[in-house]
Amino acid sequence: MAQKAMDRVDYVEFYVGSAKQWAYYHKFGLGFNIVGYSGPETGIRDRVSYLMEQGRVKVMVTNSLYPDSEISNHVRLHGDGVKDIAIRVNNLDDALNDLKERKVVKFEKPVDVKTDSGVVHRSRALTYGETVHSLIDYGEFESKLPPNFEPVEFVGTERSGVTRFDHIVGNVEDKKMDRWVDYYVDGMGFEPLISFDDKDISTEFSALRSKVVHYNNRKIVFPINEPAPGKKKSQIQEYLDYYHMPGVQHIALHTDNIVETVSKMKREGIQFQSAPDSYYEEMAKRVGKIDEDIATLKALDILVDRDDDGYLLQIFTKPTGDRPTFFYEIIQRKGAKSFGKGNFKALFQSIEKDQARRGNL
Ligand code: FE2
Repeated sequence: MAQKAMDRVDYVEFYVGSAKQWAYYHKFGLGFNIVGYSGPETGIRDRVSYLMEQGRVKVMVTNSLYPDSEISNHVRLHGDGVKDIAIRVNNLDDALNDLKERKVVKFEKPVDVKTDSGVVHRSRALTYGETVHSLIDYGEFESKLPPNFEPVEFVGTERSGVTRFDHIVGNVEDKKMDRWVDYYVDGMGFEPLISFDDKDISTEFSALRSKVVHYNNRKIVFPINEPAPGKKKSQIQEYLDYYHMPGVQHIALHTDNIVETVSKMKREGIQFQSAPDSYYEEMAKRVGKIDEDIATLKALDILVDRDDDGYLLQIFTKPTGDRPTFFYEIIQRKGAKSFGKGNFKALFQSIEKDQARRGNL
């Protein structure tokens, strides 16, 4: 079979109000290493970026140094949020030819960025809201750092153990989900994976619909959510009201040991959604035998769900910034390939409690 044009998510870039503070959160809270810095000292005059890394997960945070810029405008409208889900491509010409033939996705003219170590070819494709996909062909480029980044001296912090991106979720407006699923499938060669309707994902109050697309045997997985009408406001609608546009709702990071990962993050003050005690009373019946001690999971508020292939453990942070928009998920898959449908109810009840406290339910 011919090689796929795209490979995997290379990094995610946030536009934020203070890159230094976001770097601190990722380093000490989430256990990332800060590996690179870019700013006036490295020849970039208008912005400051930090690159963080853990396992194969790379996160970049960027802030503008000037009030009138794409970055400042993005932060003013959306608050802190994801601008770019950058995708590593095997060959940029092939990837762009594929997009051109499919005639759906708009993308920028490719540019060659020269660095000390070689030339990186890159372009940007547009997606929902003001979110983009940088498409990056590293060619023979061996350096771990993007152009104009300088290495940051390693100061050891305890790693939390996340290993790779598992999935990255977009929230779009009501009745727009199918359009964006088609965008990825028809426009970029993704395949549909699974869908959930509002009967699967609703509580007494609010509901959402979700469809998942994937690329290259699940190397890239993008669920897309839209709000569904319920008795009260959908959490997806609350996101849209505060982000003022479609955007990235959460990034799921995989770990090989969720108990250790979440213990470390909680010690460092990261706040997570909690689960009601009743959730754990029914858990053994629902998921059957698992390796982990249920009392430990309960103490950490870790959720468990089973599908035909195995089970998964997952937990969600509270919003990372000040607006009720972006958050992280930590997930450990033990065979399961699904997304924790059995946990939707417990999770949403927890989110809705906060939504009600904000006066938005
Ligand atoms: Fe998720």
